[in-house]
Amino acid sequence: MKGMLQANALAGKTILITGGGTGLGKSIGKYCLELGANLVISSRKKEVIEKTAEELMNETGGKVLAVAADVRKYEEIENAINQSVATFGKLDAVLNNAAGNFISPTERLSHRAFDIIVDIVLKGTYYTTLAAGKHWINNKQAGTFLNIVTTYAWTGSGYVVPSACSKAGVLALTRSLAVEWAKYNIRSNAIAPGPFPTEGAWSRLLPGELVKKFDPAERVPLKRVGDHQELANLAAYLLSDFSAYINGEVVTIDGGEWLRNGGEFSHLETIPESMWDMIEKTRK
Ligand code: HXC
Ligand code: NAP
Repeated sequence: MKGMLQANALAGKTILITGGGTGLGKSIGKYCLELGANLVISSRKKEVIEKTAEELMNETGGKVLAVAADVRKYEEIENAINQSVATFGKLDAVLNNAAGNFISPTERLSHRAFDIIVDIVLKGTYYTTLAAGKHWINNKQAGTFLNIVTTYAWTGSGYVVPSACSKAGVLALTRSLAVEWAKYNIRSNAIAPGPFPTEGAWSRLLPGELVKKFDPAERVPLKRVGDHQELANLAAYLLSDFSAYINGEVVTIDGGEWLRNGGEFSHLETIPESMWDMIEKTRK
C-alpha cells in the first residue's frame, strides 16, 4: 500500500481536516503532509489533536497546526479558519471528516441521541462549509471541499438512522454547492468509504461481542477491509489540482460492498462448484 501521487502534489496548499486527530482523518492528514501540504487539524479534544500534530510533524517533517474546535459551534470553526490563515497565509481546502455514530434500534433512541449525531455530522458539516465558503468568497479565492460520507447516504441503513439521515444531507450539500459555488471556483466532492478499521468506528459500530460475530470483510466481494493508504490516495487526489475538473462527484471506495449487498442473487456465491455441476446437469 503505497502513496500514489507524485512528490509535492500538494505543495503550497493548506488543508483543514475536522476530526483530524484520529482514525481516517489522521491517516489522510499524514499523506497530505508527505505530499507537501500544510495541515490544520481540529476536533473537540485539544490534547488528542496536539499529540497527533506532534507525532505527524516528527514523522513527516511537515507543519501541523492543532486548533480545538467543536464543529457544532460556528464561532470555533471560524476561529480555526482564521488561525489557519494567520499561521499559513491562506486556506485552500477543507476535509469535512468529523463525525459521531453508534448502533441502536431507532425506537430505543431518545430525541437527544438523534440530535447529537445530526448536530455533529450534518450541522457540523454545514457550519464548517458555510464558514469556509464565506471566507473564500469574501477573499475571491478558490477552494476545495471534500466530504466524507458513507454508502448508506443513498441506500439508508437500519440501526444507524441518525447517521444515515445526516450523511444523506451531507451528500445533498455536496452536490448542491458543487453547482451553486462553482462560479466562485469552489469545488465540492465526497468520498463514500466502506469498512476501514479505526478505533472510533469499530468501538461504536461493533461493540463488545459483535466484533466476533460480524466480520466486516465478509460483506465485501474482495473479502477484505480497506487500507488507510488506499483512502488517503483517493482523498489526496480529490484535494489536489489534478482533480480540478471533478466537481459534485461522490467516489465509492468499498471493494464492491454496497452493490453486493443490494444484488438480488449475490448470495449465490455460497453455492459450491459441485452444486453448480448438479444444477447444470438438471438444466441439460
Ligand atoms: C443509544 C446513545 C448512545 C448509544 C449515546 N447515546 N450513545 N444512545 N446508543 N450507543 C445518547 C445518550 O444517551 C444521550 O441521550 C445522547 O446520546 C448524548 O450522549 P452523550 O454521551 O452525552 O454524547 P457525547 O458525550 O457528546 O458523545 C457523542 C457520541 C460519541 C456521538 C455519542 O460516540 C462520540 O463522541 N463520538 C465521536 C466519534 C465517533 O462516533 N466516531 C465514529 C464515526 S464512524 P440522553 O437522552 O440519554 O441524554 C462512522 C462510520 C460510518 O460514522 C459508516 C461505517 C461503514
Ligand atoms: P474517528 O476516529 O472516531 O473520527 C471521528 C472524529 O470526529 C474524531 O477525531 C472526533 O474527535 C471528531 N469529532 C466528533 N465530534 C466532533 C465535534 N463535535 N467537533 C469536532 N470534531 C468532532 O472515526 P473514523 O472511522 O476515522 O471516521 C472518520 C470519518 O469517516 C467519519 O466521517 C465517518 O463517518 C467516516 N467513515 C468511516 C468509516 C470507517 O469504516 N471507519 C466508513 C465510512 C465512513 P473528538 O472526539 O476529539 O472531537
